[in-house]
This record gives sequence, C-alpha cells and structure tokens, in this order.
Amino acid sequence: MEPKIIVHGGAWTIPDDRKQAHLDGCRNAVEAAYPLLLQGASALDAVQAAINVLERDETFDAGRGAVLNADGQIELDASIMDGKDLNFGAVAGVRRFMTPVDIARKVLETEFCFLIGDGAERFAREQGLAECDPRDLFVERELQLYEKLRSQDGYSTDQAFAPMPQGTVGAVAIDKDGNIAASTSTGGTPYKMPGRVGDSPICGAGVYADNELGGASCTGFGEGVIRTLMCSKACEYLAQQDAKGAATEAIHMLYRRVSGHAGVILLDKNGNYGIYHNTDHMAHAYVLPDGTIHTTVHMDD
Ligand code: GLY
Repeated sequence: MEPKIIVHGGAWTIPDDRKQAHLDGCRNAVEAAYPLLLQGASALDAVQAAINVLERDETFDAGRGAVLNADGQIELDASIMDGKDLNFGAVAGVRRFMTPVDIARKVLETEFCFLIGDGAERFAREQGLAECDPRDLFVERELQLYEKLRSQDGYSTDQAFAPMPQGTVGAVAIDKDGNIAASTSTGGTPYKMPGRVGDSPICGAGVYADNELGGASCTGFGEGVIRTLMCSKACEYLAQQDAKGAATEAIHMLYRRVSGHAGVILLDKNGNYGIYHNTDHMAHAYVLPDGTIHTTVHMDD
C-alpha cells in the first residue's frame, strides 16, 4: 500500500496576509509526517507527528496560538483514532500542555477514551509529558481578538454572528499496511463559554477512522458537527461513493440539516483523498502520487 497523508489547518475566511503562513504550516506538517510513513511508521504515529507540528505553529487555533474563551483563558481539545481497532483517545479543557494530541494518544493506550480538564492534565503529568505555562500558549493576535469581542455589547458565540474557529487542525493518514488514522486538535471557537467542548475531541463528530471505510477530520463550527456526527457520516458515505463525493455529501448534509459551515478531509481505504468545505477557504496539504506535496486554501486548486 502506498502511504498517504492529508492535513488541514482550519476552514474559514483566511485573511490575505495570513494565507502564506497557513500554507507553510500545512506543508511543514506533511513534510514532518510523510517521511515517517515512508520509513514504515504507523498511520497513528504519522497523524500525531503532523498534529504536533500544527499545534506548535502559532498560525493555527490549536496549541500555541489558540483562541481565548470568555474568561480570557485557553482550553484545548484534541483527539486521535486508530482505524485498525477503533481505539480512540481524546482530551478536552487542557490548559497547561502545548500539544494535547500527545495526551490523547496516551489516553488511546488506556482502557479509557476521553479525559477532561484537571484529570487529563494529571494523567499527562503521570505519563511524563512536558507541561507549559498557560501563558506560553497566548499570542498577541488572539489577545487582541479577545479584547475586541469582550468590548462588543451582547457578543454571542452563536454561529450566525460569531467569528469562525480560526484554524482547527487535523490529519488523516494511511500507512503501508493499509491502516488508517485520524486526529484533530483545536482551541475551539473564539470567546467560547468556559468549559465548552467542541466537535474536535468527539468520536464520530470532529474525527473518525475505520479501516473498513476510511478516515476523516473536520473543522468548522463544532456544535453543528456534533449534532450531525459529521465525520462518521462522511466515512459511512464512502461505502456508497468515492472520497470526493463522500466529503461533498457530508458538508451538504451539515448545511441541509443544521445550516452548518465546515470543511472536511477524508481518505478512503484505497488511499484516495476527499476534500470539501462550504467556507471561503480551508488550508490543507497532501501528498501527490509522485511524492510531492500540494498545499492550497481552495479545494479545487
Ligand atoms: N471545530 C472546532 C470547534 O468548534 O471547537
């Protein structure tokens, strides 16, 4: 099996002066993870490596550079899923770890699926993962957005009025053995209610992988994605149609049922990509058949 990997860096309207950073970030993630796949690494290791790069890149709403909640704090959500055995690990409300996907991966290796807040952080410490000062996650851009939203009277995070999540990250890979893995990481929506958990760490919503179907990671307003279980639906659609069709149908379903806006990346069990978004842009990058990396903010480029 020819290994493949695709990553995304959020579906929204990316300002012109930030497009190049999004393209570079997605490319860097694939450049870090694809050689691992070529050397025989598992899809699970590859998506974790890709997400690590994106979480450390302050361009994205994940790890360092994440958006602030209404209390002015960062609460990170992340997940990872192994399509071979449907093992799943996720964390939510993490404030002191820059790469929460590493905690999610450790959770996947336990009998549990999902840890939150203090319990997730205690577990991460017990596992020897490196803690950071919560302030290490903050960047000036997001502090300014927080102050702007705070000063708006009656500001609502309702999808109709709020700014999109600005750079949730995700990755889907298939390794030489045909195993598929998917992972998603985010700071969530700007000015979210403290304690709010989005779709990214919810199995079947913001992430899904099943070797018998394919793998998916998505980005966009989490509430609609949770209510429609969009990533598991996208994988189920693969039973009936090709990857591009399944990605398209998932986003159309999201819009039809809950007026949702989002983007999704998919890999089917034969290593074909599916990419679709109903936002202006979705930063993404993937490996072409000749081994080069294609990166763009428009699905049809
Ligand atoms: N899709 C990211 C979030 O809504 O939290």
